[in-house]
Amino acid sequence: MIAPTDDIDRMMAVMEAAFPPEYGEAWNRRQLADALVLGNCTYGLIAPDGSDPAGEGVAVVGFYLARSVLDERELLLFAIHPGHRRKGLGHALLRKFIDTARVDGMRRLFLEMRRGNPAGALYAAHGFRMVGLRPAYYRAANGSRLDAVSQELVLS
Ligand SMILES: CC(C)(COP(=O)(O)OP(=O)(O)OC[C@H]1O[C@@H](n2cnc3c(N)ncnc32)[C@H](O)[C@@H]1OP(=O)(O)O)[C@@H](O)C(=O)NCCC(=O)NCCS
Repeated sequence: MIAPTDDIDRMMAVMEAAFPPEYGEAWNRRQLADALVLGNCTYGLIAPDGSDPAGEGVAVVGFYLARSVLDERELLLFAIHPGHRRKGLGHALLRKFIDTARVDGMRRLFLEMRRGNPAGALYAAHGFRMVGLRPAYYRAANGSRLDAVSQELVLS
């Protein structure tokens, strides 16, 4: 999916503010741009009022990036800007991710997160279930190791 430069700028602004630096989860602009030229990557944006911020210049306060293989889609990045959290925008963006995947004919959704991320409650609320655990998979900036939790949602 080719993204307009403006969308990449808007996603990077959220990315740079949203991910806690100690976990090294944020991608740089090159990584994001490279992923978006691949035909199997899709993304979604959300405006402060929960709507789709179509058009240049409209504020973006959250985004997701996903990669598809056949009828499976993996959520690679998911973030809401810190200044707009705890207002339901994470719920709205995840709903958009799931609804879009269903419309696109996906049957299974995947994601992986570090154990203990508050996002786990969000994913669980939308039906994601743990399907795997990789002990000590991530390394935090302070050298500590964190488990990776794999989750799945089967779409009906
Ligand atoms: C996770 C994230 C997207 C949530 O965004 P948000 O807009 O605050 O989400 P919502 O307001 O819709 O809340 C969604 C649910 O997430 C959970 N949640 C979010 N932040 C939480 C926190 N600080 N503590 C506990 N639970 C939290 C709650 O279950 C909440 O549902 P509820 O309000 O109905 O109880 C946001 O915190 C974020 O961008 N975090 C940094 C990036 C990240 O870790 N992304 C996930 C990678 S796997």
